[in-house]
Amino acid sequence: MSSQTYLSDLFSLDGRVAVVTGGSSGIGRSITEALARAGASVVVVARTETSLKATVDELAEHGCRAAWVSADLATRDGIRAGAEEAARAFGEPDILVNCAGVNLRPPMGELTDEEWDTTMTVNLEAPHLLGQRFGPGMADRGFGRIIHISSQQAHRAFVQSGAYGVSKGALESLARSQAEAWSPYGVTCNTLVPGFVMTPLNTRLSSDPEKVAALAERTLIGRNGLAEDFAGAAVFLASRASSYVTGQAIFVDGGFSVH
Ligand SMILES: NC(=O)c1ccc[n+]([C@@H]2O[C@H](COP(=O)([O-])OP(=O)(O)OC[C@H]3O[C@@H](n4cnc5c(N)ncnc54)[C@H](OP(=O)(O)O)[C@@H]3O)[C@@H](O)[C@H]2O)c1
Repeated sequence: MSSQTYLSDLFSLDGRVAVVTGGSSGIGRSITEALARAGASVVVVARTETSLKATVDELAEHGCRAAWVSADLATRDGIRAGAEEAARAFGEPDILVNCAGVNLRPPMGELTDEEWDTTMTVNLEAPHLLGQRFGPGMADRGFGRIIHISSQQAHRAFVQSGAYGVSKGALESLARSQAEAWSPYGVTCNTLVPGFVMTPLNTRLSSDPEKVAALAERTLIGRNGLAEDFAGAAVFLASRASSYVTGQAIFVDGGFSVH
């Protein structure tokens, strides 16, 4: 067996269908490209049509199969409508990546009900409802992969963790609950935990060179994360190679969390 065939047996996503929320920017965009270039047909879900189109056009240039759905994951109706439309593009998904996220971080005492609700709906309820929509079908078919993106704030409070940290802590618990429910049927559910990654999500912090340097110093590798750092971990968790990995939080953070 050639090394290509061996690697393909482990990691190829040929014939798989993936839905990636937040796949039009930052970490999600990198994961979308990775899954598509590994063979999956990918449906990208977010709100802004221009960035959705740009993502899908770029994937087409790589010869990938991709489609987009504009949906607002900050409302239950938006989540449900987005899920149905996503399933119409290439059929029911084998892989669900919940990467869409909001980062509203006022001081705890100033946190409004609206900020709490939006944070909980986009960061936690959307992953739950999309899991409810797609998880049982994956279990019936005997294969599925659910991948969430959480945060350091799921594990420790710093830089005004607030509602964001609460949503991400619960997201990791959601992964464990989903893993308990569906792993016996071939559906693994895991979380990727980033460190600090320069993306549009954290423009305010990224524009402060001293804070950016201080965060890089907290890693063991000596630099902050790049969106492309998530490509390999996402393909691994989406592929056959990870079939005995479930309910886990896997840190892709340059060692940020280990000291
Ligand atoms: N960057 C970091 O340092 C870091 C660290 C830890 C965890 N994370 C997590 O990683 C994930 C991706 O973050 P990122 O840094 O790559 O962010 P990003 O570049 O800002 O991308 C966020 C994505 O989510 C989509 N989105 C936001 N609100 C939405 C809504 N209401 N409905 C539908 N889609 C929505 C955005 O598209 P539209 O705006 O067009 O809707 C975009 O595609 C998030 O869950 C974040 O919490 C990031």
